[in-house]
Amino acid sequence: MAAALDPGGIHRHHRRIPAPEFAVIDAPDLVLARYRDPALMAEAPMNPVLQSILSHRSCRAFLPTPIPPATLAAIIAAASSAATSSNLQAWSLMVVEDPARKARLAALAGGQKHIVQSPTFLVWLADLARLDTIAGQNQESVTGIDYLELFMVALIDAALAAQNAVVALESLGLGAVYIGALRNRPEQVAAELGLPKRVFAAFGLAIGVPDPAAASGIKPRLPPGVVVHREQYDPTIDPATLAAYDARMSAFQQEQAMPDERWSQRAINRVRGPASLSGRHRMREALGALGFELK
Ligand SMILES: Cc1cc2nc3c(=O)[nH]c(=O)nc-3n(C[C@H](O)[C@H](O)[C@H](O)COP(=O)(O)O)c2cc1C
Repeated sequence: MAAALDPGGIHRHHRRIPAPEFAVIDAPDLVLARYRDPALMAEAPMNPVLQSILSHRSCRAFLPTPIPPATLAAIIAAASSAATSSNLQAWSLMVVEDPARKARLAALAGGQKHIVQSPTFLVWLADLARLDTIAGQNQESVTGIDYLELFMVALIDAALAAQNAVVALESLGLGAVYIGALRNRPEQVAAELGLPKRVFAAFGLAIGVPDPAAASGIKPRLPPGVVVHREQYDPTIDPATLAAYDARMSAFQQEQAMPDERWSQRAINRVRGPASLSGRHRMREALGALGFELK
């Protein structure tokens, strides 16, 4: 029993997966990498969990190496370990490994090649159908699931489970990228995955062994001074602070040989209007078609 619970035991069976890169990066350097501001290189407490979380970067290039079943099982157990509203566990997971299905899903999600390239594509589901089924098996009917609140519960549960999975798989040296573009065509994705009424594919997650030839860097984030409020919300944003962040993001984009567009301009463009939502401006209608009343 003890052996089954020993995380070292899980790892021992999968030596083929390379050691996480964070093992060689000093802890203060990770905080510096996240904010690119020496002033924020605090004497933060540090441990392997924080080192792994601070080392996060989305991975968009994978080796064909399959994910061993025991590793996937550990990742799923980590997902299941996330807190869940009222212990309702209103999320489900779809594991997609059929190359033809991955290709069809990639086509529905803006043709993102990393979906096809990843050996395992996970789709995180906001699932209110299970509660409906359980009620039916108890000769009861439930209408609480028809409210927006329960949709939010299911969506939050799915997101928390997914992020626990990401933390777990990155700690094992694997990489992942979320795929929000799976919401571009919700009805078609639901049909492809055979989803019943009241199950929504919230987002995908392409996972696999990162291709070392396409290693990406740690993307800087907005400083705590912009993101963190104390006691009451402060709506002001210091233009100089924002300009400094734009400059850090520009430096990052150049280092990654990616197009250098100001972060704030890119963010504005992303939310400019319905046309910039990649088809997702009709989400309310799509959710209705998928059986969510959102009362
Ligand atoms: C819910 C969600 C959806 C996302 N969708 C996509 C996507 O469709 N395609 C993609 O390449 N990256 C996607 N991303 C990854 C973000 O672009 C990425 O997390 C962000 O740029 C920060 O970079 P980092 O994760 O490397 O730190 C998504 C991230 C989240 C959280």
